[in-house]
Amino acid sequence: MNILFAVSEATPFAKTGGLADVAGALPTALAETGDLVYLFLPLYGEIKEKYRAFTPEAEVFIPIGDRLLPGSVVSLTTPPDDQHPNLKIFFIAQDELFDRPLLYGPNGVEYADNGIRFIFFCRAILDAVNLLNLDIDIYHSHDWQTGLIPVYLKTLYKNLPRYQGGSLFTIHNLGYQGIQKKDLLPLTGLDWDEFTFERLEFFDRLNLLKGGLVYADKLNTVSRAYSREILEPEFGFGLDKVLQERRNDLYGILNGVDYSEWDPASDPYIDNHFQLGRMAGKKECKKKLAQIFGLTFSETQPLIGMVSRLVTQKGFDLILPLLEEVTEFAAKFVFLGTGDKKIEAQLSELSRQYPDQIAFTCGYDNRLAHLLEAGADIFLMPSHYEPCGLNQMYSLRYGTVPLVRATGGLDDSITHFDPKTGSGNGFKFNDYTLSALQETLIEALELYQKPKLWHRLRANGMRCDFSWKQSAEQYKELYKKIINE
Ligand code: ADP
Ligand code: GLC
Repeated sequence: MNILFAVSEATPFAKTGGLADVAGALPTALAETGDLVYLFLPLYGEIKEKYRAFTPEAEVFIPIGDRLLPGSVVSLTTPPDDQHPNLKIFFIAQDELFDRPLLYGPNGVEYADNGIRFIFFCRAILDAVNLLNLDIDIYHSHDWQTGLIPVYLKTLYKNLPRYQGGSLFTIHNLGYQGIQKKDLLPLTGLDWDEFTFERLEFFDRLNLLKGGLVYADKLNTVSRAYSREILEPEFGFGLDKVLQERRNDLYGILNGVDYSEWDPASDPYIDNHFQLGRMAGKKECKKKLAQIFGLTFSETQPLIGMVSRLVTQKGFDLILPLLEEVTEFAAKFVFLGTGDKKIEAQLSELSRQYPDQIAFTCGYDNRLAHLLEAGADIFLMPSHYEPCGLNQMYSLRYGTVPLVRATGGLDDSITHFDPKTGSGNGFKFNDYTLSALQETLIEALELYQKPKLWHRLRANGMRCDFSWKQSAEQYKELYKKIINE
């Protein structure tokens, strides 16, 4: 099969969250099964800076309203040695739109022209298919930034022989919909007929995510549980009815883990490696982590860590009040994250108030994220909603016990530990309340004081296998369904 993978971020090129981890790993996992994968990304400033040499592949001219915006399709002049031969990576270059310091805008505030940026991206990809003579069986697009691809395939590009492939749209997070003023509709090149309640209109605005939901041949989200949750008003962000209409075409496929990137036995970002049966390195990582965060190392007290975008989705309206009472817990907390200015300020303030127990590094730091996974005893993820979540799965492999709320992918990947049977890989609570979080934390802290049980729990997690191979097989099944229907 020939698969076009259109996405707005992918490791190792550009990343703000888990979408990049998925887009960095799934194309390779598919390529390994024999598929040919064409990955398309915007050429952001940071990619230009890091890779420098690019080979021009084609020129594009995209009509945006009355303007004809020029751009180009480029590839890396020297692709990395470990890039799979079945994977081809192309970048859409348009400096006015993409050569900026950030992907989408500062501190969670979107650039004002994000609508235009991603209209351009989607149309440039589709034009590139023709210019590069690609034969595509499946157009696989992700989140609102590429929601227009399935729309174009069923409208502007519908009757062109080159564009007869099917489409899959993956929802990584329904909370981000790319909602634009309706004046943007003419800039898409689409007809006003598309601006109806059944199609792209959403409370008199243009909703780019909805385009993907309405027009793609099939849809999926990144866990089974989330694929059910989004059919309900609580998690549907106003699109639950649209999704209910499409429930027979909606699937849930859990993300995988790229163990070539996230494995404590070989992780290049940590000095002391470890694995099941040889755990001494983990203690050294904990010491290093405590030191970097300016906390004193304690063997008897667990170090509880969190790496996260700082947004309410991740459970901060429970975490912040929990931290107000931190002196009641025999534990220390380390946070790494950036995002909402208010949450940043509150975490900074708490770390000033309780310097022996709470430390916060404000920023984005991949190396530190790896050390935190390695050095922490417990990983905190009490998300309000979580389409999949990757850090809980990374944590398992690093012997860092996840403490999660039962939602989305957290619910699908974590089972609550039962000391009687010795089964389970983490701590999980149901109700999104402070008391439920507190109780579960207390349970975790008590278990930490029982080394035999703790080691059992940790080992259960380290034995879990969430490799991409299984998820890639499920995507292939879905692609085949699309082609055969
Ligand atoms: P989401 O995509 O909602 O942010 P995920 O759990 O799927 O959540 O993925 C988050 C990814 O981003 C993980 O790889 C995590 O390590 C990384 N990440 C998040 N914040 C930071 C940060 N401040 N520094 C480094 N990595 C981060
Ligand atoms: C989103 C979700 C996260 C998921 C990631 C990758 O950003 O918030 O739960 O793991 O996408 O699919």
